[in-house]
Amino acid sequence: MTQSRKMCVAAIGDLHVQETRTDDYRGLFADISTKADVLILCGDLTNYGKTSEAILLAEDLSAVTIPVFAVLGNHDHECGQPEVIKTYLSDAGVRVLDNGESFEHDGVGFAGCMGSMGGFGRGMLSSFGEPSVKAFVQACMEENKKLENGLRMLRTDRAVAVLHYAPIPGTLEGEPLEIMPFLGNSRLAQTVDQFENVRAVVHGHAHRGRHRGETPGGVPVYNCAQMVALKETGRPYALFEV
Ligand SMILES: [Fe+2]
Ligand SMILES: [Fe+2]
Repeated sequence: MTQSRKMCVAAIGDLHVQETRTDDYRGLFADISTKADVLILCGDLTNYGKTSEAILLAEDLSAVTIPVFAVLGNHDHECGQPEVIKTYLSDAGVRVLDNGESFEHDGVGFAGCMGSMGGFGRGMLSSFGEPSVKAFVQACMEENKKLENGLRMLRTDRAVAVLHYAPIPGTLEGEPLEIMPFLGNSRLAQTVDQFENVRAVVHGHAHRGRHRGETPGGVPVYNCAQMVALKETGRPYALFEV
């Protein structure tokens, strides 16, 4: 069987676009467009989820000349209008993976969701006790279901899972121990490992973590928070082949 052509993927998270910024991402996006076949945005694209921030982001995205896929982050929800942020992204040509959607491009599938906090391994919060805890865990599981549904829809032999929250603790090393349970949860990695076609997972959210790790099933995981990628690779985004 002939091997499919490799796809070069760039992924960046935690742009945190603000009204008060003094620089923009146009130069970076144009540069990425010359180096990669697709660009993935891993959430926290705006700082407060304001309309004004989404407008600035959409203007920057006009510099991208390759397909763009995205999930939102917790910051994009802060103003309570994630649908507005999604509309600006969609109008800028971005395919938003937020509700169990999946997309295929050139033989590679993309599926994802924001994900959620909740903790890792034996320490993961479980559905036990008071109703508020059960409601929170239920919401985490519903978010995870979006990832599962999106991945299940794909018929490609290669796929990339896109998240904002982390699926493993390995890419969080360097973060304060006290906040680890707020940075992601293990259910996301369990879901990824059910699907043999997933070749990589990208996430953001952890500004002080590590750039690379892997799921218990051996799938590469990239923390694409721009600060982390810059510190470890010299460029503010992940760049890899699938
Ligand atoms: Fe962030
Ligand atoms: Fe975040």
